[in-house]
Amino acid sequence: MTQDELKTQVGQAALHYVEPGSIVGVGTGSTVNKFIDALATIKHTIRGAVSSSVASTERLKALGIPVFDASEVDELAVYIDGADEIDHAGHMIKGGGAALTREKIVAAQSRKFVCIADESKLVRVLGQFPVPVEVIPMAAQRIIREFAAMGGSAKVRMKDGRPLVTDNGQHILDVTGLKISDPLAFETRVNQWPGIVTVGVFALQKAGVCLLGTEAGVKTLV
Ligand code: A5P
Repeated sequence: MTQDELKTQVGQAALHYVEPGSIVGVGTGSTVNKFIDALATIKHTIRGAVSSSVASTERLKALGIPVFDASEVDELAVYIDGADEIDHAGHMIKGGGAALTREKIVAAQSRKFVCIADESKLVRVLGQFPVPVEVIPMAAQRIIREFAAMGGSAKVRMKDGRPLVTDNGQHILDVTGLKISDPLAFETRVNQWPGIVTVGVFALQKAGVCLLGTEAGVKTLV
C-alpha cells in the first residue's frame, strides 16, 4: 500500500468518531485532507466544522461543509488531525504545515483528540522530526539561543527566500537535535519563554486516540 493509500484509510476510519448533528474540529495536512474528503460524503449528517487553517477552511468550503469560527461555538466533541510524530502515549510533534497555533487552540476546545497518521509517524521518543515553534519575530534570535543552550539547533523556516509568515502573521523556528523524553515538561518549559506563540509539542493537548494506517489495516492506539 502506498503512503497515500494509508492516509486515505485512516481518513475514512476517522468518520467513526464524528457524532451526528455535531460541529467537528478539523486539523491540517495531507492526512486531514483525506478525512475532509471522507467527511464530505456524510456532510448532510453534521452541522459543520471548525477549522485550524486557511487551507483546511478552503477545502471544507469547496466541498460544501459549513465552517464556523472557533469563537462561535463552545466545546467540540472531537478534533481530528494528523501529526508529524506521535509516541505510544499520544504525545505529538505537530506544525510541519505551520498551522500549530490554531491546531492547539481547536484541540484545547475539544473533548477528544483523534490523531490520524500512517505508521511512519509512530516513534518511541519524540524529536527526530524538527520541532516547529511559532514565535514573535523580534524574539526569534533570543529563542534560538535558548534552544542552543538546551542542545538544539533552531532555524527560521523560509519560503521563497524569506521567513515563512504563518496564518497569524508570525514566524516558525524548526528545532533539530532534541530528544524529548518528557514532552509535558518540555512543552511547559518552552511555553514560558517570552515571544513563544506556540511550541509544536502537544502534551497538554495530546491524542486520546490514534488511528494508525498500517499494511495490516487501521490500528487503534490509546
Ligand atoms: C500541520 O501544521 C501539522 O501539524 C500536520 O498535522 C502534520 O504536519 C501532519 O501532516 P501530514 O498529514 O501532511 O503528514
